Amino acid sequence: MKRKEQLHKLSSEHHGSLVMAKRIAKIAEEGNEEELLEAIKTVQKYYDDELEEHFQHEEHTIFAPIFKVHKEHIGLAKPLLKEHGLIRMLIPALTPDTARDGLATFAALLKDHTRVEERELFPAIEKTFSKEEFDAVLNFKPI
Ligand SMILES: [Fe+2]
Ligand SMILES: [Fe+2]
Repeated sequence: MKRKEQLHKLSSEHHGSLVMAKRIAKIAEEGNEEELLEAIKTVQKYYDDELEEHFQHEEHTIFAPIFKVHKEHIGLAKPLLKEHGLIRMLIPALTPDTARDGLATFAALLKDHTRVEERELFPAIEKTFSKEEFDAVLNFKPI
């Protein structure tokens, strides 16, 4: 299905998330100690530079209108919003001692989360959001 133009930025960020998740999952599985420590830094930088803003973009322009107006999607949005919280808590909790498990959890969570948004959430809102709501997605400016 062709994505609505206003969702292109978020969708292209999703592609980046899937690439990141795959890379981190591989390191969690077979990386040595040095690679695991490097991966923690990579993930924390990725979160600071991109992922937190991506979450806010979705929360302000997609989840908020769902909770206010498009309540039929709440069942879909609620666990996704909770996962934003889980990922936010996981990032500062990544430590050298638990790097392998922590990175594996992060990678799996990010992959599954992103897939549900692309395969279920975006197709659902493409059917129900108004032009104004899509324009708000397009014109989002981080705070
Ligand atoms: Fe999300
Ligand atoms: Fe997303």
